[in-house]
Amino acid sequence: MACTSVVGLQWGDEAKGKIVDLLTDHHDIVVRYNGGANAGHTVVCEGRTFKLSLLPTGVIRPHIRSVIANGVVVYPPRFLEEVAGLRKAGVPVGENLVVSDHAHVIFPYHLAEEQLSEQGSSGAIGTTGRGIGPSYADKAGRIAAVRIGELLQPEHLRERLEPIVARKNRLLRALSPEAQKFDLDLGGSLLSGMVRVRAAQPDPLHFDVDDLCREYAAYGEQMRPHITDTTQLLHEALRHKKRILFEAAQGSLLDVDHGTYPYVTSSNSTVAGVWTGSGVPARRLTRIIGVIKAYSTRVGRGPFPTELNDGKEGIGERIRRTGREYGTVTGRPRRCGWFDAVAVRYSAAINDVDELALMLLDVLSEVSEIMICTGYRLKGELIDTFPTDAYVLEQCEPVYEKLPGWGTDLSTARRVSDLPAHARRYVDRLSELLQRPVTIVSVGPDRSQTIQCS
Ligand code: GDP
Ligand code: IMO
Ligand code: MG
Repeated sequence: MACTSVVGLQWGDEAKGKIVDLLTDHHDIVVRYNGGANAGHTVVCEGRTFKLSLLPTGVIRPHIRSVIANGVVVYPPRFLEEVAGLRKAGVPVGENLVVSDHAHVIFPYHLAEEQLSEQGSSGAIGTTGRGIGPSYADKAGRIAAVRIGELLQPEHLRERLEPIVARKNRLLRALSPEAQKFDLDLGGSLLSGMVRVRAAQPDPLHFDVDDLCREYAAYGEQMRPHITDTTQLLHEALRHKKRILFEAAQGSLLDVDHGTYPYVTSSNSTVAGVWTGSGVPARRLTRIIGVIKAYSTRVGRGPFPTELNDGKEGIGERIRRTGREYGTVTGRPRRCGWFDAVAVRYSAAINDVDELALMLLDVLSEVSEIMICTGYRLKGELIDTFPTDAYVLEQCEPVYEKLPGWGTDLSTARRVSDLPAHARRYVDRLSELLQRPVTIVSVGPDRSQTIQCS
């Protein structure tokens, strides 16, 4: 029985989607256990490109069962939109896709709340704006959270939402810059500020409970055929010796507990999330694959010691262009830099990965000298451990080792022996520094552009 976990070991976008797609043939079920529509997984399959955000990558192969498990936060309009998009592209989506009744619901007030906290605030994280943080905050806070199963009971939903929406409306008004401005201008109570804002224009920060109940009960009805107890379903599958593939969203350095806090996402994107996020005990995992790209990228704010800020003609920009390093969800240019072996050694250990899939090696083909960060200088001292507190990591200067580039296109390589000697040396050196075997090397987005290393 195979239970495989695929995790990203950097700051996301390591090409987890391609690896999950490659492995689906060897599994019966693909499970998303964390995050929400903040993820963007691109899969190129027989010349067609699929971009998945909330749905598990397995969904493009209808013979596979795809599960959105309890650890995911679901924005129902996005769910329905993605399903409709796939059907339009000729991919049948039916009972093969299931959603946990215990997954948490994202409402529009979560999006509004996130927008207000990100706007011009010194504490901005540079999020994807998908309501992820506020929704997980409500889940942990318990008072204002709603789970997917509750959408199926309109009367109960109404009872739950009535006090929640009133509370959210008060919160949003208090957070709104206009309200705060009027409050100051008038020198009066917060309420007087609200009244002015609402009188002047329709308030985008006010939600009507009746409208929300109607809208979300209708989403519930549309999603009903997919909603089930996925923990039970997965345990049943384990009893029947089904093979399960766990697909992480985000990268391990964005994990809320183990990442570069506070510049992280709000869930466990490491393998730790599998247990809580799906109900499948961690000791059932038989294979853990860590996905890395041949360099580093990061979207949003936060420390990035090996970032290349070397201008329009620099290597950073060249990597961005060649690797098409623009966010799938937001279109933001990804920050690019050299491979950071200190950071990845840490995340490989946190996940205890058995093996590494090294992706996007072809992107470095034009770079004549390649750097690998092997240590940091912190306050004059050399360290080789990874500080995950953002304010400490910000002070770290990378120490590099230089390797020669290979200068030839790799996109047609299919065997290790097709790789030029310097490319093989780069792969071997990463494996040595990370003390794990590289079992897959990827040299292009297509399935065929993959080298299995024995
Ligand atoms: P994920 O979020 O980890 O699934 O990664 P993304 O899908 O956001 O980003 C990876 C991007 O690289 C996608 O556009 C893939 O199609 C593409 N890709 C995957 N593997 C390779 C590769 O080996 N070489 C190149 N050039 N592109 C790749
Ligand atoms: P995949 O699955 C890269 C980043 C955001 C931001 C931080 C918090 O495609 O690898 P959030 O919206 O989650 O509250 O934002 O996390 N981020 C990602 N970066 N890839 C992702 O997903 C990401 N999901 C979130 O840019 O810095
Ligand atoms: Mg991505």
